[in-house]
Amino acid sequence: MTTKDTQIEKLTIRPARKADFPILVDFLAKLALHVADSPPLTLREEERKHLQDNLADALVNDDKLLIVAELSKSGVVGMGYIHILRSQGLWEQDGDQELQTAVIDDTWVEPAFRQQGIFGAILCKLISFAEDRGLQDLILEYAASNKEAKATWTRLGFETTGVRAAASTATVKKKLAKCP
Ligand SMILES: CC(C)(COP(=O)(O)OP(=O)(O)OC[C@H]1O[C@@H](n2cnc3c(N)ncnc32)[C@H](O)[C@@H]1OP(=O)(O)O)[C@@H](O)C(=O)NCCC(=O)NCCS
Repeated sequence: MTTKDTQIEKLTIRPARKADFPILVDFLAKLALHVADSPPLTLREEERKHLQDNLADALVNDDKLLIVAELSKSGVVGMGYIHILRSQGLWEQDGDQELQTAVIDDTWVEPAFRQQGIFGAILCKLISFAEDRGLQDLILEYAASNKEAKATWTRLGFETTGVRAAASTATVKKKLAKCP
């Protein structure tokens, strides 16, 4: 656990607890709406349960770490998550060596508390988690339309390594011209 004094409130960066789940599910819902650039919507009850189950797994799985940022007066105002993705290599030459990748996901800081270094403090813990496991590379995905995420990740040294593209079947058929 890390604590430091911000301008008016004490910031604590700590692993999530079960009692945090309701607010973390709210953050995940806000994140989904933010990424989709959607007006407010209500989360289905089954999805709320599903998200809580995923969060619960992060508390008991050694390959996962869920971190929250808590302010002394305002309470929990941010979250960040890292997990280790394990896979077997494709190539005979690599032998039985397991590949491990550190993936960052589910990052949220409440709007009123942004650009004060809160996510940077969360990220320090996520980095330690990866480095403690001998992993030096971090990967993550964000929507190209998410300008805030792009600005933050670029500032923090992340470089684009791939592009996810989307098109309607009608558009692609028009381009191909030869589809029946
Ligand atoms: C992305 C997000 C988590 C950043 O949280 P934050 O607490 O504001 O981030 P920090 O204050 O720790 O900033 C980290 C660095 O990014 C920079 N940064 C943060 N937001 C920025 C913005 N909107 N524009 C430009 N730079 C920005 C900061 O200046 C800082 O760099 P510095 O140390 O040189 O000052 C927050 O904006 C957020 O919750 N956005 C909505 C959810 C989201 O898009 N999540 C990412 C999905 S992949």
